[in-house]
Amino acid sequence: MMLNKLVNLTKMNKEITDDNKLDRSRIPSHIAIIMDGNGRWAKKRGLPRIAGHREGMKVVRRIVKRANQLGVKALTLYAFSTENWKRPKPEVEFIMKLPEQFLLTYLPELIEENVQVRTIGQKEGIPSYTQKAVNEAIEKTKHNDGLILNFALNYGSRFEITEAVRQLSKDLDAGTISAEDVDENLIGSYMMTKGIGDPDLLIRTSGEIRLSNFMLWQLAYTELWFTDVYWPDFSEVDLEQAILDYQNRGRRFGGV
Ligand code: FPP
Repeated sequence: MMLNKLVNLTKMNKEITDDNKLDRSRIPSHIAIIMDGNGRWAKKRGLPRIAGHREGMKVVRRIVKRANQLGVKALTLYAFSTENWKRPKPEVEFIMKLPEQFLLTYLPELIEENVQVRTIGQKEGIPSYTQKAVNEAIEKTKHNDGLILNFALNYGSRFEITEAVRQLSKDLDAGTISAEDVDENLIGSYMMTKGIGDPDLLIRTSGEIRLSNFMLWQLAYTELWFTDVYWPDFSEVDLEQAILDYQNRGRRFGGV
């Protein structure tokens, strides 16, 4: 009991110390996270992979809360990729139930915290109960103006870019735009992230160092931050450390 208290106290102190080091005027506006390592976290404990996903969902709640407190404007979370369908059916079904479960439990809290729920990704293919839960959350939070919590669900960057090019071509054919109008801003407006600025900081957990078809257009000038920590172990302190490292980097956007 005493030991638990001591551990909690130490954790709290660590958070406060790290937080104090952060420059509140330079918090990244948009953070994107590839939440990886749920399966390995579970395996290490002799648990089924889905136990890692369940734990990962609880971490989402804590990180959303902390990001919001720190003044982050948008948080994009890679929850399910277009490639994740290759996993065993029961695992896919379990992950697809998570948004519904998450929102059933935490939507009132998100509303109270002024969070706006959004999604990017291909709607087709997502089970109707998942779509229903997500649509309800989007609808109920659309007038909020706090943190944008953007779930990438059935998302793949090449799919997004392909769809953007397809739509842009249709508009060219229809004559609503002309070839001279095509610039980076216009292309950006055809992306699913339209209206949300590009990420300033990308975090990937679990020691993998790749982008896995995530926001390839939007990450052009993003600071990348990798950690060996598995997503279910990712804490508020890790988030603060990532932000601190971000603040210590010099962003030049190709300049000098
Ligand atoms: C990657 O770990 C994780 C996923 C594919 C699922 C991510 C989902 C969550 C973290 C929960 C999402 C919560 C909500 C609210 C939508 P992995 O399974 O690839 O792990 P591994 O690389 O160790 O096998």
